[in-house]
Amino acid sequence: MREGLLIVLEGVDGAGTTTHTTRLSDTLRSRIAVRATREPTAGPVGALLRHALTGRLVTPGELTARAPGWTTMALMFAADRMDHLEVEILPMLREGVSVFCDRYYHSSVAYQSLTAGGGHDAIAWIRELNRHARPADLTLVLDVPAKVAAERRRRRGGRELFDDEQLQAQLCDFYAQLERHFPGERIVHVNADGPVDAVAAQVLGQVERLLAERG
Ligand SMILES: Nc1ncnc2c1ncn2[C@@H]1O[C@H](COP(=O)(O)OP(=O)(O)OP(=O)(O)O)[C@@H](O)[C@H]1O
Ligand SMILES: [Mg+2]
Repeated sequence: MREGLLIVLEGVDGAGTTTHTTRLSDTLRSRIAVRATREPTAGPVGALLRHALTGRLVTPGELTARAPGWTTMALMFAADRMDHLEVEILPMLREGVSVFCDRYYHSSVAYQSLTAGGGHDAIAWIRELNRHARPADLTLVLDVPAKVAAERRRRRGGRELFDDEQLQAQLCDFYAQLERHFPGERIVHVNADGPVDAVAAQVLGQVERLLAERG
């Protein structure tokens, strides 16, 4: 049986990765076998990460809730990803199911290197932590100006750890040049600063192109 494709959606918080992962899988479901998934996952490490992101991770004896530092976060995200691959992504791909993943190792490199201060050591180390993660067959980067993403997050509500104006602006710049950090990968930018339907059509077009190439 032919392996499924691993297709990743990436972008800053509010870019629309969750919206378009769902849209894409709903649109293609009648034509190919698909599975929509996301990181952090609903697995044990993913659950811990979600608590850290929403400020609910408090251990006994701690006086103030404190988010783990970037190195701990990088290790946790990598651990969650390897678990995700083992229990869900790789078995699905082997069964011929295409997997659409809302965030993948690109997010780790972007978020953890920027919260580390942006040094190249951090990028190399985070990439090394993710060396055994199966590469994506296609990564779609949803590009939106920082202000647009911030307005969408504001309307949606629910503040998270990385919801910081300065960090999100740096993330926009990082994502605009994401391919610099992943040579050899198929990374395509989509202008996500428009109506949802228009963005969805562009996303679908890129995936259909890959499907057609595969035959
Ligand atoms: N093209 C669009 N135009 C207007 N609003 C949009 C568009 N895309 C998404 N939204 C809305 O913006 C909000 C954020 O979208 P979504 O949750 O998909 O972003 P996200 O990238 O998954 O964010 P996060 O990374 O924080 O989970 C949602 O309320 C969504 O309905
Ligand atoms: Mg999301």
